[in-house]
Amino acid sequence: MSPTILITGASGQLGTVLTEALQHKYGRENVIASDIRLPESFDGVFEILDVTDAIRLEEIILKYKVDQIFHLAAILSANGEQNPLNTWEINMKALLNVLEASRKNKVAKVFHPSSIAVFGENAPAVDTPNDSLLNPLTSYGLSKAAGENWGKYYFHKYGLDVRSLRYPGIIGYQSKPGGGTTDYAVEIFHKAVTGEPFTCFLDKETTLPMMFMDDAVRATLELMESPRENIKVRTSYNIAGISFSPEEITASIRERFPNFIVEYAPDFRQEIADKWPKSIQDCEASRDWNWKPEYDLSRITMEMIDNLQGNYAGFV
Ligand code: SER
Repeated sequence: MSPTILITGASGQLGTVLTEALQHKYGRENVIASDIRLPESFDGVFEILDVTDAIRLEEIILKYKVDQIFHLAAILSANGEQNPLNTWEINMKALLNVLEASRKNKVAKVFHPSSIAVFGENAPAVDTPNDSLLNPLTSYGLSKAAGENWGKYYFHKYGLDVRSLRYPGIIGYQSKPGGGTTDYAVEIFHKAVTGEPFTCFLDKETTLPMMFMDDAVRATLELMESPRENIKVRTSYNIAGISFSPEEITASIRERFPNFIVEYAPDFRQEIADKWPKSIQDCEASRDWNWKPEYDLSRITMEMIDNLQGNYAGFV
């Protein structure tokens, strides 16, 4: 029998695509998508849910007899810096509500994302190992680092099967990101395809870890489907895709659009990016559940341009 899955933040960048993948895998009727707003169009079961509301969360878990939760709702790094205390409050409250409601109602598995934002000054910037010191320098990073440890705590203290991935910047054509430091790597493709110049909020040499959406969704499903005993890391797994700078992605896009204009106007997000790893090591994920990324930069560029051209043509 298929499990019943609740996904929070289902209208977000990753949530939109992960919801469809889960519907495909488990059946539309077995996936309960939720967010604070109704999406413009949605085919399936949807509930309005602010995860900081513990009572409403529990009502939904009981109503549908939820077996698994994919808790994606969070305020991201750049938006988070506008009001750091609010970011901490919301991200932590939402996660603790999910963990506590899962424990009380015997939810079998919980997934919650962490991020490269957990790393800061004291971690090696290149090939950052999974068990590096975590000294995050954003409120978002602080909430993710604390959240990883809370997940591990619920696993050890209550046996709750909590799993997590440290996502790099995610690049997809299906949805737009909101409020992250890696968002430029999606926006740049939209500008290239619509023939507009692009002003990049990071400096041209700022290398960051990134991943194609399909790899990120596949990693999430593979982690959650692995046998419980294989999951040795109960804080969060590093997962690497590729690393590139704005200058390198621009060069890749110019192979298709030679006249594409990119200018640089670094803003406050530069300081956030400067403290994050340039690349991360993911040997624990490969060892425990055979993680392997499939998309390199040229393949990502091709997929993004082809699909966005199709999307924009469809909208006209
Ligand atoms: N893409 C995320 C952000 O920029 C990283 O976790 O906030």
